[in-house]
Amino acid sequence: MRPIDVTILDVVSEAPQIKTLWLDRDLDPYPGQYAMLWIRGLDEVPMSFSGPDSITVQSVGEASEALTSLGKGESIGLRGPLGRGFTILGERILIIGGGVGVAPLAFLGEQAAEAGREVTSLLGYRCCSDMIFLERFQRLGRTVVTTDDGSSGICGRVSAGLEALDIDEYDQIYLCGPEMMMWDVISKIREQAEKIQACINRYFKCAAGICGSCCLDPEGIRVCVEGPVIRADRLLESEFGRYRRGPTGGKGPCRG
Ligand SMILES: Cc1cc2nc3c(=O)[nH]c(=O)nc-3n(C[C@H](O)[C@H](O)[C@H](O)COP(=O)(O)OP(=O)(O)OC[C@H]3O[C@@H](n4cnc5c(N)ncnc54)[C@H](O)[C@@H]3O)c2cc1C
Ligand code: FES
Repeated sequence: MRPIDVTILDVVSEAPQIKTLWLDRDLDPYPGQYAMLWIRGLDEVPMSFSGPDSITVQSVGEASEALTSLGKGESIGLRGPLGRGFTILGERILIIGGGVGVAPLAFLGEQAAEAGREVTSLLGYRCCSDMIFLERFQRLGRTVVTTDDGSSGICGRVSAGLEALDIDEYDQIYLCGPEMMMWDVISKIREQAEKIQACINRYFKCAAGICGSCCLDPEGIRVCVEGPVIRADRLLESEFGRYRRGPTGGKGPCRG
């Protein structure tokens, strides 16, 4: 797939280091699908859709810093929507997100609520100044917040918020965030793994299922085409939460 040229209509600052880029077209993605964003002369990186025509970027390095420095009227190349997104199942759903991982979940929650589903959200942030999209979630239904430093909501990691909820009440659970946060949640409710859809990150190079950079041991799941949304029961016996590959293909510790 060749990149198309998209123009940035607006840039909104959501939190320190996090900005939403509003694009000049609705690309009709499913929540959980992603785009490869080509910053000319620099790099091409994967980013989830935070809405039909928006991408929310956390600045962590050269490419994401360049993306968050773009202004209105500037353009980027875009391949997408790519990959398999979330499937909306059941009547009562629970969204569990951490950090910038809440971005695709806000989009999912809005589509689920529009389709008549009852939405509950459990959101984990480092501190109160990182609480992006809180109002978007609160509009959808009950929202439980945790912060690592206790500056808002329940003090602790997102899994601390599980105690405030009856997990058996939910037909489907949707998860996105740092890998160790997701692993913590999946491990705590592993008997529910079949009803957890997790949106996961691996190092993407081709985003076309060819290079093998994103494959999950031992099944060899190509996260760029078979994911990024993968059912948690498939993750339980995989490398997920244990190690991942970096730019050179070498194995290293999971981030976050
Ligand atoms: C399916 C998917 C969806 C994503 N959605 C979002 C999103 O909505 N918002 C957001 O802020 N970030 C998202 N990311 C992460 C984002 O791609 C990385 O933060 C970004 O590529 C970092 O690039 P950099 O040059 O700024 O940082 P670098 O300094 O190059 O790297 C910092 C870290 O970012 C990760 N990274 C770097 N390049 C890639 C790559 N090509 N593929 C995957 N990870 C990489 C690595 O873990 C690396 O350790 C997503 C990643 C994937 C795989
Ligand atoms: S990024 Fe190349 S196979 Fe997935």
